[in-house]
Amino acid sequence: MTNLLEAKGLRAAYGETKVLHGLDFAVRQGGVTALLGANGAGKTTTLRAICGIVRTQGEILLGDTRIDGKATEDIVRLGVAHVPEGRGTFMELSVEENLRLGAYTRPARQATEDFGLMFDYFPRLKERYKQQAGTLSGGEQQMLAIARALLLRPRLLLLDEPSFGLAPLIVQEIFRILARIKQDAGVSILLVEQNAAIALEFAEHAYVLETGRIVMAGSSADIGKDEGIRRSYLGY
Ligand SMILES: Nc1ncnc2c1ncn2[C@@H]1O[C@H](COP(=O)(O)OP(=O)(O)OP(=O)(O)O)[C@@H](O)[C@H]1O
Ligand SMILES: [Mg+2]
Repeated sequence: MTNLLEAKGLRAAYGETKVLHGLDFAVRQGGVTALLGANGAGKTTTLRAICGIVRTQGEILLGDTRIDGKATEDIVRLGVAHVPEGRGTFMELSVEENLRLGAYTRPARQATEDFGLMFDYFPRLKERYKQQAGTLSGGEQQMLAIARALLLRPRLLLLDEPSFGLAPLIVQEIFRILARIKQDAGVSILLVEQNAAIALEFAEHAYVLETGRIVMAGSSADIGKDEGIRRSYLGY
């Protein structure tokens, strides 16, 4: 299996504060990799580092292309879509306007075709096409954020805690849709989650992060079985 994304010795800092201390990790082509860890471990920062939002050192490869040091906009154009923590939805805009923003890199006609596909995945968004995003439920907002990211037709989807603040049934629904999208679109996913149980079920591989260092890497099955890791880092 080839890797779509590979990070080598990845470091990141906010000003003088060093947050990531040399991470090595990979996302396989067509696969799902989970990044787990407690609050403040550096999960969000890792996704920001991949997108060029924080200053980094080390190498990040997307396929054969070095993307570290590139501008966020260029990284997006190379096929990396980011669903940030807090979803990054434009609350005052409608569902439709948010989706159009997601498709901004693509010709209008193609984007409109893809809207149909998104409504097939997320029928709730279709019903609420003209609704102001800020008035959507939390689950609907998460769906909108994912749909918007997918309209870029990314090769790599970065998801920052899609389950955050949502009821278990909605979380299940979102992960069912993500599984379908992964299969249909062949998109590779790097999933950051506090909800380790659901992340390990969805991902084939996982990394456990502790204060900016990877303390365990392996198959989701192995990590899920490790009693010590479960108790220390995963909280279940
Ligand atoms: N803009 C910032 N400026 C300074 N420090 C920051 C900034 N953003 C994050 N940090 C620090 O970086 C560390 C890692 O934060 P990060 O948000 O990556 O953690 P996380 O694993 O995503 O946590 P959570 O599960 O709470 O979302 C924390 O100590 C945090 O205080
Ligand atoms: Mg975070």
